[in-house]
Formats: sequence, structure tokens, C-alpha cells
Amino acid sequence: MNRNISNSIIYNVYPTSFYDSNGDGIGDLKGITQKLDYIKQFADIVWVNPVYKSPFRDGGYDVQDYYQIDEKFGTMEDVEALTHEAHARGMKVLFDLVVGHTSDQHQWFLESQKAEPNEYSDYYVWNDDVFGWCPYKHMTGTCERNGNYLINFFSFQPSLNFGFAKKTQSWQHLYDEEPCCKLHDIVIDIIKFYMKKGIDGFRVDLANSIVKDDVDGEYSCRVWRKIFGKVREEYPEAIFVSEWGQPKFAVPKGTFDIDFITHCYFEGYNLLLRQEAGTNVLKNDGHSYFRKEGQGECNTFFDYFLENLAAVQGSGYISVVSGNHDLPRVSMGRTQEELKTVFAFLLALPTVPLIYYGDEIGMPYSNLKTKDGGYCRTGARTPMQWNDGKNAGFSQTDGETYLPIHENYTEVNSEAQAKDPKSLLNGVKDLVEAKRAYLGDFTPDAAFQLVQTGYPVVFTRKENGKTFFCAVNPSDRTYEIDVPANGKVLLSENVTLEGGKAQMGGVSYLWMLA
Ligand code: NOJ
Repeated sequence: MNRNISNSIIYNVYPTSFYDSNGDGIGDLKGITQKLDYIKQFADIVWVNPVYKSPFRDGGYDVQDYYQIDEKFGTMEDVEALTHEAHARGMKVLFDLVVGHTSDQHQWFLESQKAEPNEYSDYYVWNDDVFGWCPYKHMTGTCERNGNYLINFFSFQPSLNFGFAKKTQSWQHLYDEEPCCKLHDIVIDIIKFYMKKGIDGFRVDLANSIVKDDVDGEYSCRVWRKIFGKVREEYPEAIFVSEWGQPKFAVPKGTFDIDFITHCYFEGYNLLLRQEAGTNVLKNDGHSYFRKEGQGECNTFFDYFLENLAAVQGSGYISVVSGNHDLPRVSMGRTQEELKTVFAFLLALPTVPLIYYGDEIGMPYSNLKTKDGGYCRTGARTPMQWNDGKNAGFSQTDGETYLPIHENYTEVNSEAQAKDPKSLLNGVKDLVEAKRAYLGDFTPDAAFQLVQTGYPVVFTRKENGKTFFCAVNPSDRTYEIDVPANGKVLLSENVTLEGGKAQMGGVSYLWMLA
């Protein structure tokens, strides 16, 4: 178990849109390196979405060559410079490991689809007749070979052959037999290649998808356990974060250090933050807990969260994200004050939280036409709003930026917010600083108690004789609650304290230590 990340915070950078160092309108690796000091204010782990050579039909999640950096992002030397500079600041860098599938332009697939059998024929999951029965999501009639290939996501993302949990068709392979085991070695090689360049670990894309017909991911877990076991022999501190959504499986069984809780598999997350129509990639319609109307509930979230927290204790951590490149922005329909309550909650939970770039300033969601396979995700991938200057300080280009910059950049940008003590940026910074200064003693394994749900939500974490007390009221109503009588206030917003009671005003939060 990787205990030295127990109090970490992850910052997720979508590389095309963070900072353009060479004026071509597209963000790049050098740009991330130049902004490490900015990121360090909020986080100590940077996760960078894919930067490998790719046709970019799914934002780089369609890898054409795992061993090459796409030229729009820079070079392998830029990777080494990024990790070097990050380490000099006590920070870590995670890359994205996208190995459930490749691009259909990957050389392995171009060979695999040929009619004549060759060394790559079994790298992907093929049935044995284009007219044959195939109950899986697949493509048919596009290749030389007489077979259909299984796809993992879009049509151009053929599934690599990690095999099946059970063999029911003659063309299937078992997950722990050849040719699937060969892929395990290939994945280990890719991981070690980047660890040698200084990368500290990986966020693992669709981690539960690799073995097919796998109920609860039991067999995918076996494969990851094997792969990580081999990597950890050489790199015991390597960090693996899963895109799974079920920490109770991914962490203890798959030996992931962290699993993300997002919109997938679990409605509790959506009921917290993303239940209103248009605020999710899912077709939700209802009320989130974090809205000033105060018509939501957080019990569904906590039921699942606490069950999973108990299951990961002693083996790893959960991450509840502010957002990511797959979701409309958390800022939708929320004021900066309301967003502060979101962060006061997310940064107080016993987790390794994740801040999606720009969420710390409430970057807006843009209604944009799809680009690079983004569809409704595109509007959450716009250039970072650094200042009110040319291209919001993102790029010096006179041409187009990767995506259009949101028009509110003259008001919503990090430079202006840094100067305003009441800004969201400074609110998040204060929370991060308090977490770093006072919550270091409270690991995610500390005793957690949910004092009350409804509005406000109140919980405590206890360790080494100390109590951390958190109350968050996202609604615009005022409530009175009991607080620890001798507690010291770490941070508060719109709260009045008097004799062991707190008046939690509308849209307020309180962090105390007792
Ligand atoms: C999950 C990634 O986060 C998403 O952006 C991508 O489209 C799919 N996996 C396919 O790789």
C-alpha cells in the first residue's frame, strides 16, 4: 500500500488545453512544465491525459504508438524535463495507460486485420467468420480478414486480446493463457518504459474492461494484480489509479492504489453534483445535493462511499473528482460561492481528491460542436483561462486555439482571481493549505463518522486523539448545528459560532479541529 499518497491531491491536465508554450495554438508538455508552480498550489500529483502518437479521433484515447509522443505535445525529452521539474518540486506525474484498445491505425492492428495469419493475428479479439454469431460490441465487414473485431468504445478502438473469463466459443482465449499473457508482458514493458523516463504511475483507462465476460471485474483484477506485481518488484512506489468506479473491487483485488468515483456505475456521485439535465453525459433529470435550491440528498452517495471506504481500508484510496474530460463542467448552474462549498466537501472527505484543470476558478462549460470525439465532452476541454490578455494567456498564436476560448475569460481567469481574496481560486487555495497543514494526521483510514445528512451534511474524522469536523450547507437556507465546544475553526464561510452552536448561513461551510 502506497501510504505516501494518502494526503495527496491530484490535478488533471487535459494537455491540448492547458498551456501552449510554442504558439501553435495547442497546449503541450513544455507548457505543463512551465505551469508546475501554479499546479503545486492545489495538488502534488499531476495526471496528464494521453500524449502518445494518435490520430486523435477520441482525444488521444486511440493510441497509434505507445512509445512515441505525439508531435503536437512535444518530445520524449519534454517528458523527462516534465518529470524532472515535477520531482524537484516534490510533485509526481501520472500518464494515462490506455491498453484496453488501440487505434485502428496502430501497426499491430493493421497487421492483425490481414487475411494471412501473422504474429499479430491474436493481438485483438476476433471471431472467426464475418457472418458468424457475435453477441459482443463489434465491427464487421471493414477488414481483409474473415472475422469481426470487438471494440472497446468507438468503432476505431479495437479491443486488445486480454481474453475471456470463460471460454464458450472456439475463437475465444482464456485470460490466463497464450496469446493473452503476451499482452501482459507488453503492458509491463510500456509501463516500465515511462517509469524510466521518470513517470511516477498511471491512470488506467477503462480498467475494468480488459477481460471480457467478466462479472464484477474479478478476472481483470487478476490481470492487473499480475502486471502491477511485476512492475512493483522494480518500482515499489509506482502509482496506479483506475477508471473503474468500484473501489471495493479495483483497490483490494486489482491492487490499484486509487479508484475514481465518477458518473459511471454509481448514481450517488451524480446525485451529489450532476443530476440536473444537461450537466452530465448521462441523461439525468432531477436535483443535485450541491445546489442552493436544497432539494437534493446525499444519502445515496454516502451509502456507497462508506461501503467502499471500508473495503479499501488498508489497501488503498478512493478519489471523488470535481470533474474530468468526460463530464460537463461542475461550474454549470453554480456560483463561485456554491463551488466553494463543493470543494469544502470534496477536500474534506477521506479520499485522494481530484481537481480538473480550471475547476479551481470555476471555468465555464462551452456549448461547442464536437471535436476529436468529444461530443458533449468537448465543452469541458476548452483552453485554460490564465488571464484577460491575448487568448486568455493560453497561447500566443495569431491563429485558432485548439478550441475557442470561453468569452467570459476577461472575468473568469486565474490571474484576476489570485488578486481577489474572496475568489474561488483563493477559497480552494485556503482549503488546500488547511488540508496540508492540519489534516496530515488524518489518513483516509481514520475513523469516519457521518453525524448528519440532509442540509447541512456534517461528518467527523478521528485519529490520534484529534477530531476533524466538517459541516457543509450547499442550500440557501440557514441551519443551526452543534459543533465541538472547544474546537478551533480552521476555515469557515458564512458561519456564526456561539457557545457550541453554529449558525450555518445559506451556502456555507465550516472546518474545525478539536
Ligand atoms: C475513458 C476516457 O476517459 C474517455 O475519454 C475515452 O473516450 C474512453 N475511456 C475510451 O478510451
